[in-house]
Amino acid sequence: MSTKIAVITGSSSGIGLLTAVELAKSGFQVVATMRDLARREKLEQAASRAGVRPYIDIRRLDVTEFDLIEPFVEKLVRDYGRVHLLVNNAGFAVAGFAEDLTVGEIRSQFETNFFAQVAMTKAVLPAMRQQRSGHIIMISSISGLHGAFSSSSYSASKFALEGWTESLRMELNSLGIKVVLVEPGSYETDIWTRNARIGKKALDGTSPNRERGQKMRDRVQAIPKRDPMIVARAIARIAQDPNPRLRYIIGPDAHIQLWLKRMLPWKWHEKLVARLWKVD
Ligand SMILES: NC(=O)c1ccc[n+]([C@@H]2O[C@H](COP(=O)([O-])OP(=O)(O)OC[C@H]3O[C@@H](n4cnc5c(N)ncnc54)[C@H](OP(=O)(O)O)[C@@H]3O)[C@@H](O)[C@H]2O)c1
Repeated sequence: MSTKIAVITGSSSGIGLLTAVELAKSGFQVVATMRDLARREKLEQAASRAGVRPYIDIRRLDVTEFDLIEPFVEKLVRDYGRVHLLVNNAGFAVAGFAEDLTVGEIRSQFETNFFAQVAMTKAVLPAMRQQRSGHIIMISSISGLHGAFSSSSYSASKFALEGWTESLRMELNSLGIKVVLVEPGSYETDIWTRNARIGKKALDGTSPNRERGQKMRDRVQAIPKRDPMIVARAIARIAQDPNPRLRYIIGPDAHIQLWLKRMLPWKWHEKLVARLWKVD
């Protein structure tokens, strides 16, 4: 059987980096993309330690450079002749109460977390349609299934991804292309530190939400976070499943949050959330 070709976005750190290595360990030839090749060393080292360095081809791609996405995928298909798996992983979160976030900040959140995933997906579809096969895995979040304090921008971008993906999956089923949503809870990656974004106004002295915003940020930093390898391994398993489900909720925290949302009347749910976070 010929080697399967995978492409993944945002593989310079966190879930993307670990997934690139797990996929290579599972037998994929991986095109691991990142927006800044100066950050490639961590992936190179992880791949070498795992003995899969030759199976990871690191290429530059900023997923918000929309004009470059189609030519990038066309070149990849020319180089490898096919593409079997797309993992739409690159993403970040803008924190801040909705009242404090600008439309521009929310728009930039959508550019990376939603429109870039749309553009990457559309770029691989011609090859997958021709092959009549392929897996497209969207890294969403439990925040794509419920809102939370200080998370309106991130949740909105992931909710958009969820809605788009549900529809896309229906449209692609008959072509043999499998579309999947992965919805992790909290995992220890750079999304909470180096890549954490906070709305400008949320930080400045004029915000009416300054105090509760700070409380919220302290609580979010204190949330227990699990090993992102759990998510990477799950993605590698899904990538090899010929008949994957639509949704994979990953982590006990994610399961509990969703269970509470589904089981409790909404008014009770929001009271409980406010009490748990000690923010209202
Ligand atoms: N960690 C969690 O708790 C958690 C939970 C649920 C969902 N997720 C989702 O998991 C995915 C990966 O995040 P992570 O947790 O692994 O965080 P991370 O360590 O911060 O990784 C995010 C990756 O996305 C890349 N990226 C951001 N903007 C980009 C752009 N415009 N073009 C190309 N790459 C870009 C980053 O590149 P740089 O290195 O250049 O910044 C980085 O490689 C995200 O979609 C996130 O929403 C994470």
